[in-house]
Formats: sequence, structure tokens, C-alpha cells
Amino acid sequence: MDIAVIGTGYVGLVSGICFAEMGNHVTCVDQDINKIEALQNLASPIYEPGIETFMERNVQAERLKFSSNLIEAVRQSELIIIAVGTPSLPSGEANLQYIEQAAGEIGRAMNGRKIVATKSTVPVGTNEKIRQIIAGQTEQPFDIVSIPEFLREGSAIQDTLHPDRIVIGLDNRELEATMVELHSSFTDQIFVTDIRSAEMIKYASNAFLATKISFINEISNICEKVGADVTEVALGMGKDPRIGPSFLNAGIGYGGSCFPKDTKALIQIAGNVNYEFQLLKSVVEVNKAQRYKVIEKLKQSLGQLNNTVIGIWGLSFKPNTDDIREAPSIEIIEALIGLGARLKLYDPVAMGKFKDSFDHPSITWCANALDAAANADAVCLLTDWQEFKEISLSQLIYVMEQPILIDGRNVYSKEQIEGAGLHYYSIGRPE
Ligand code: UGA
Repeated sequence: MDIAVIGTGYVGLVSGICFAEMGNHVTCVDQDINKIEALQNLASPIYEPGIETFMERNVQAERLKFSSNLIEAVRQSELIIIAVGTPSLPSGEANLQYIEQAAGEIGRAMNGRKIVATKSTVPVGTNEKIRQIIAGQTEQPFDIVSIPEFLREGSAIQDTLHPDRIVIGLDNRELEATMVELHSSFTDQIFVTDIRSAEMIKYASNAFLATKISFINEISNICEKVGADVTEVALGMGKDPRIGPSFLNAGIGYGGSCFPKDTKALIQIAGNVNYEFQLLKSVVEVNKAQRYKVIEKLKQSLGQLNNTVIGIWGLSFKPNTDDIREAPSIEIIEALIGLGARLKLYDPVAMGKFKDSFDHPSITWCANALDAAANADAVCLLTDWQEFKEISLSQLIYVMEQPILIDGRNVYSKEQIEGAGLHYYSIGRPE
């Protein structure tokens, strides 16, 4: 199939590459000319393991190209996928400016029958708005489809090539066979539904996963008070197939470009129809408070933090990405600076991005984890990178001023800690 993908962010770029990998002819379009030039030179604007290999293979096979010419891309394609951003407005509502702009441009470019599918996460009813906008610009016939995206950063290519399920929302049943066939090379778990339900499935899924995380984080806070171990509790709970073992890792809460944005947007979507989503509001509040567990534990172990030196391991919102959007590290670092601490920061890939958006005289940028720990009064692990899991903890007592390790992601086992001579504090586990 000839496909145009509008928007080369995470979702657009990865989807475009994966549709090309499956033998389609894909043009990825972006209005940012610099980004397109970089992509044409096979440089990925996002850090994602393996992405450049996939890009190169498909560009060389002439299945994938990059362009800033939306009109031409739309004219050459039968399927147009909208994958532009829907960032949060100050109210928490999704900003649909880029969606509306893309829909208008698609409408003006149309030269025959097209399928316009939305992959961006959009509030219920947005696909109907897209239909109206396009219809206002063209006499050409077209269909609207909702194909929400469920990929995770850090494993985006694998998630897209081997998804657990694909959701397709449509109202013209004649399209079903075409859309199912397009996706059948990825999985046979294809769920076809109406457009509004498809839009809602995306928000409900992210909100549910965020709820699981805040739930286990609250359980971890109780575990600390009653002497239970949240890791054991999560393992035991997860054995029940109705609960499942995933997304029950207690820590300093979720971040990223999706859960924070989508939970707030769903609260707004509900509010717009006079429904107060109480449970989800609590999920958001619990998540915000959970970040400060690290500060609480630092204060418990060091007393006051003025003039202390704190090593920070990990800045990205999760491992295998350089994405720092809504990362817990940002608020923790701001709070520590406010308390007078001097910070030594290290992250395997996210330091460049962090430095671009946040720098301060109290910050020293370090070359590796051990360097960040050198002369520190405490080290806080904020992102569960594999590199930190594999570090030999017994070295820390030789380089640190005080051997205090606060593990915000519960990455170390009792065996790893035993014999390392550290004062070790984690989340929801006995000290
Ligand atoms: C999330 C969803 O998992 C994807 O299915 C969805 O497609 C995507 O949002 C999106 O809407 O585009 P992502 O934000 O890449 O994907 O990251 P996750 O792996 O879900 O992690 C989100 C956050 O939750 C991270 O900060 C992670 O550290 C935290 N987390 C995750 C926990 O604190 N505990 C857990 O048990 C799991």
C-alpha cells in the first residue's frame, strides 16, 4: 500500500518505518525541514535502540522516504496516517492545533479517494472533527479510521512489529478487510470497533496502567509502615491472572510524554461531560507525591541537605530513551537545589537533553556512574538503566563521602546489597 505518515515524532516515525518493513511504500512527512534533512541522511531525531538499522534498510529498499512536501505525499498515497503531537494545554486538555492543521492540509491536497487514519492520541470525537475539517476543504470522497498506538519508548520498534493487539475504529465496514489486511502481518490480534470506542480504548488503557503504578506505589508506602516487602507483594499479586505481574514495580512514579498527558486529558474529557473522574485524579496526585519519597529518604538519612553533595543516577523518565519529558528527575533535582544540595548528575544518554532544558551552577555533569558517586554524601538512583543494575556496588564505599544509596526504582536485590557496606534505602522494602 502507498502510505503517507504526517508527523515524524515517536509514533509517526516508528509506524512509518514498521509499515515500510512490512513491504508498504511509506513517505514520512514533517513540516520541520531540518528534521527531514536529518532523516534523509539517516539520522534519527529520537533515541530508540535499533531504529537507524531499520531506517537504512527500508530507505535502501526504496520503501521509505522522508519529505516536507505534504501535498505530494498525500497525492501519491491511498492511506494517510495522522501522527502529529497532541500536547497538554495548561488546562490538561489535549491541544488539537496540529491535528486540525494536518486535517486542513490533507483536505486541500486530496486528489481522489483516500483513507485518513489517526494514530495520534485524541479525545473522543476528534476523528469526527477531522472528518468535518477535511470535508470542508475537498469534494473528494474519503473515509476516517482510528488506529491508536500502543508502543512504548525504548522498545518502540519491537512493540510495533510484534504488538499484543491492534485496535481499528471505523464506521464504514467496507474498509474493514483493507485495514485488517494491512495490519495482519504484525499480529492476528486485531480488534475492530467503532471510532469513538477506539479513541477511548487508548486513553482508558494508559489511565489503567497509570492506575496500576499509583496503586502499587501506595501499597509500597503502607508496606514501609507495616514491615512488608512490596516486591514480594507485587510478585504474589501478579500470580493471579486477573491482576497480572506487569506494571507493578513500585518506585518514584511514572513520567514520560504519555501517562501524565493522557491521564490529565481523560480527567478533562470526563469533566467536559460533567463527570468527575475521582479515581484518576487520585492516581495523578499519588504519582506527584511519590517523587518526593527520594527527598524524604535523603532527609531521614542525612538530616538537612544544605551543602551536601548528592549523586544522581538517571535522568530520563525510563531506561533506553533520552526522553526527559515529565521525568521524575526534573522535580527531584529542582527540589534538591532548592534545599541547597550540590548535585553530580549522570545518565547514559539523556544528559544532553537535560542540559539543554535545565542547567544550574549547583550541577556538575559526570562522565559515568562512579564519577557521579565520587565524594557524594548520597547517591539517588532515579532511572532503572541496565548499566546501574550491573554496577559493582562494593566500589561505592571507596569513592563516596558517606555510603548512602537511595534506590528509587528498587533495582538491587538483597544479595547485591549484602556485603557492599552501604546504607541502602529503597521504596516499600524493609531496610
Ligand atoms: C506508555 C504505554 O506503556 C504505551 O502502551 C503507550 O503506547 C504509550 O505510553 C503512549 O501512549 O504512547 P511509555 O510512556 O513509553 O509507554 O512508557 P512505559 O514503559 O509505559 O513507562 C511509563 C512510566 O511508568 C515510566 O516512567 C516508568 O518508569 C513507569 N513505570 C512503569 C513504573 O513506575 N512502574 C511500572 O511498573 C511500570
